Amino acid sequence: MDPETLLAMAREAAEHAYAPYSGFRVGAAVVVQTAGGPRIVTGANVENGSYGLTLCAERSALAAACMLGSGGPGEASRSKARPPAVTHVAIACVDAPADAPVAERTPCGACRQWLAELAPKATYYIDGMPGELRLDDLLPYAFHLDGAGMRERPRARKGRRGAGA
Ligand code: THU
Repeated sequence: MDPETLLAMAREAAEHAYAPYSGFRVGAAVVVQTAGGPRIVTGANVENGSYGLTLCAERSALAAACMLGSGGPGEASRSKARPPAVTHVAIACVDAPADAPVAERTPCGACRQWLAELAPKATYYIDGMPGELRLDDLLPYAFHLDGAGMRERPRARKGRRGAGA
C-alpha cells in the first residue's frame, strides 16, 4: 500500500470529524484483509460534551476494520478467536501546525492499546513524520490479556442478581 495514498485518505477522513470542543480534527485510514481481498476503512474523531467519552479517529477506524475483518456470518467462531488482519494504518492530525512536535501527531495512549490489540502487525504512517513505524515503536511492552486465561474463567451463574436467599 502506497503510504501517500493512505495518508491522503486519512486526511480526507479528518474532514468528517466532529470536533466542536477541541477544533482538532484527526483522521485514520486502515487497510484490513477480508475474505474478498484488502479493504480500506476510515475513521475520524467524534467528540462528546462529557469530554472523556470522545472517540478518537484511530479507534473509530479500528472498530470498522474489526467488523470487516471478522469474515462473514458463517465465520462467527473465527471472528471471536482472532483480531482482524490489519496490515497498514495511516493517521493524520490535519489541524496540527506544520512545526508541531511529533507528540501532536501520534496516537494517544488509549488508541495505542487498541492498536496493540487489533493491529499489532501493521505498518504505521503518521502524517508529517517521515518513514514508517511498527507497533513496538508506539507501545513497547504492550499489555496483552492471555486468551487462554479468559477461557478458563468460571462462567457467570444464571439467575437473577440480588434475588435474595
Ligand atoms: N484525538 C484522536 O482522534 N486521536 C488521538 O490519538 C489523539 C487525540 C482527538 C481526540 C480529540 O477529539 C482531539 O483529538 C483533541 O484531543
